[in-house]
Parts: sequence; structure tokens; C-alpha cells
Amino acid sequence: MSHRIARTTLTALALACVATFAQAQQGKLKVGLMLPYSGTYTALGVAIENGFKLAVEEKGGKLGGREIEYVKVDDESDPAKATDNVNKLIKRDNVDVIIGTVHSGVAMAMAKAAKESGTVLIVPNAGADAVTGPMCAQNIFRSSFSNWQPAYAMGEVAAKQGKKTAMTITWKYAAGDESVAGFKEGFEKGGGKVVKSLTVPFPNVEFQALLTEIAAAKPDAVYSFFAGGGAVKFVKDYAAAGLNKNIPLYGPGFLTDGTLDAQGDAAQGMLTTLHYADGLNTPRDTAFRTAYAKAFKLQPDVYAVQGYDAAQMLAVGLAATKGDITKKAEFAAAIEKAKIDSPRGSFTMSKSHNPVQDIYLRKVEGKENKLVNVAVKGLADPARGCRM
Ligand code: BEZ
Repeated sequence: MSHRIARTTLTALALACVATFAQAQQGKLKVGLMLPYSGTYTALGVAIENGFKLAVEEKGGKLGGREIEYVKVDDESDPAKATDNVNKLIKRDNVDVIIGTVHSGVAMAMAKAAKESGTVLIVPNAGADAVTGPMCAQNIFRSSFSNWQPAYAMGEVAAKQGKKTAMTITWKYAAGDESVAGFKEGFEKGGGKVVKSLTVPFPNVEFQALLTEIAAAKPDAVYSFFAGGGAVKFVKDYAAAGLNKNIPLYGPGFLTDGTLDAQGDAAQGMLTTLHYADGLNTPRDTAFRTAYAKAFKLQPDVYAVQGYDAAQMLAVGLAATKGDITKKAEFAAAIEKAKIDSPRGSFTMSKSHNPVQDIYLRKVEGKENKLVNVAVKGLADPARGCRM
């Protein structure tokens, strides 16, 4: 070995030692998981945590060279408690990054606190359009979807299927309102008309009176946003009222994702749109599903994928900053230019930090949301109101 090569090798070794030493000095990375561990969205929160931890384990238990310490808060999907809960993580526990949450109303309070404090926030579900719209910020990212994305795609699909009139029914909060607005935009652009919009307060599941109203009005189709326990009850009630025989029930895929065991026959044949599907049959998705099933003795769903990808995005940012999450500009730049190798299919980030992704049309067959086709390729949220 010549002297010059030996010197270069030694310099590289020394630099690697300095980097390792610097990462060790930073200590563990404190990750705040603010998710629902009680209430109608419990299963969603658990799947997100499972997916996140699986990705971390696959990276040897470290991100950016740092071990992870988890701090968990049950947000109960309660917007009234959201500011207190997120401030516990930011001010009391001094977390480095927050992963959360499922419910759009809670997520908006979290985004406000993250924007004010500068703490990095990765949203692994809640689709609140505002988070990557008017509230967008350098330190706020989403690994999931905006409420507009799957809803708009379903509107296009329903119009293409020749449906002329639709009624909508949802929980009355940001996710339901925005999902209905997205569907209406896609459906009416394609020549359809939303004739009536019905709501129930979150998380109520008393649907009977509204189902009677739908039966009397006889629209060509019904579009509905519910998820978790509420979706199970709604789809079963819709079928029990006999409505599924004559009026197809459409929705974003949350209506049937992670819920089919409980919905059984009531969901068969339903069409939904989402950024994930069963039967993608790609090597990436198959590897993920095998690893998830082995680790948790459960089949993954869209929520597990979103948690997994939140960890993948965090890993990209931390790799670029050698574990130093306070380097906000470098952290953000790395995620902005990354292609995230997701089980759903790889995706990039929009300028407002929301995934630009394919939206699949799926059909319920047995216990699967089987891929039918790509409803809209590379769909980006319009990010209305984002100035960044
Ligand atoms: C939301 O509140 O944004 C939401 C909750 C469950 C599933 C999808 C979206």
C-alpha cells in the first residue's frame, strides 16, 4: 500500500470514528408516539406503531446511528385534549420527533404546536388537508395521504361508472367534510351530482334514521367516510338495511381496510379507492407483509404501511444529518428529494411534504381489498394555501 493510500484510509477511518463518536454523544433519539390507544381508532394506532417499529428493527434498531427511546401518549382521538397531550411530549418529555396521529382534528392541534416549537412532526395517517395546506412547514411531513386524495379518485371512478346522483354520509369533522368535498369535486367534474350530504357527530354510530332517508331518496350511489370501529358498524348496518343490493356504497379505502374480518359478508363486492391494496404482488410489498405477519401474527393494513413509511422517512432525514435532527434544513432537503421505497409502491414528497402517489381502485373479495387497477397515477394533493 503506498503512503498516500494509507494516509487516505486513515483519514477516512478517523472521520468515521468522529461521526460515530458524535452520534454516540447525541444519545438516544426520543420518539414521541401520539396515537389513539383507546376508542374507535385504537386498531389504527396500534397498526401504525407496529409498522414504525418494524422499520426501525429492520434498520438494526437505530436511525441515523442513534438508538430509539419511545414515549407514548394515548390521544383518545379527542381534539379537546390534543394541545395538552402534544405539549406533554414537547415540553415535559423533550422528544426529538413526534409521530402522530390518526384523527384529523387532533393532528391539526399537533401541527400548530409543531410549527410553533419547531419540533419535527411526521403524520402517519390523519389526512387533514390543512396540515399540508395552510399549516405546511419545513418541519412537518406526512407519510399517509390528504383527505382529498382517495376521495377525489373515488369521485372520478363513480362518474366513469355512469352514476349520476350520489348521497354522502360521514362523521361531522374535518376528515369527513374534506373527504366528501374531494369526492364531490371528482364526481361533479365527471358529470355527476351530489344531491344530499348527511352527517353524524364523531364517533357516534347511530345510523338508522339516515339509512332510512337514503332508502327513500334512492340515489345512484352513496359515498361514505368512516374508519375503524365506526366503519365496521356502518358497513354492516348498510347491508342489514338491504341497501347494498340496489345502491352501491363507495368510499375511501378506510371503510374496508383492517375491518374485513369483522364486516364479513356485508362488505363483499364493495369498491373503494386508496393508496394501498391487497394483491399488489411486488417483491417489496411481499417482503413487508411477510415480515409484518411474522413479527405481529397479523396481516398488515394501510395504517401499518403508513407507520412503516414514517420511520423510513425519518431514517432518510437522519442519515443526511448523521443523527442530528436539529439540522432542520438538511433534514427536510433530504426527505424532499428522496424516493421512499414503500410497500404501497415508491413515492416522492410534494413541495408541501405530502406523498405524491398512485391511488388504487380495490374490490372486496373475501378478506381482501383486491387490487382492480390504478385509479389515478401519481396523484398530488393540490396543497391549497401552502406557502413554503
Ligand atoms: C382522519 O381523521 O383524518 C382519518 C381517520 C381515520 C382514517 C382516515 C382518516
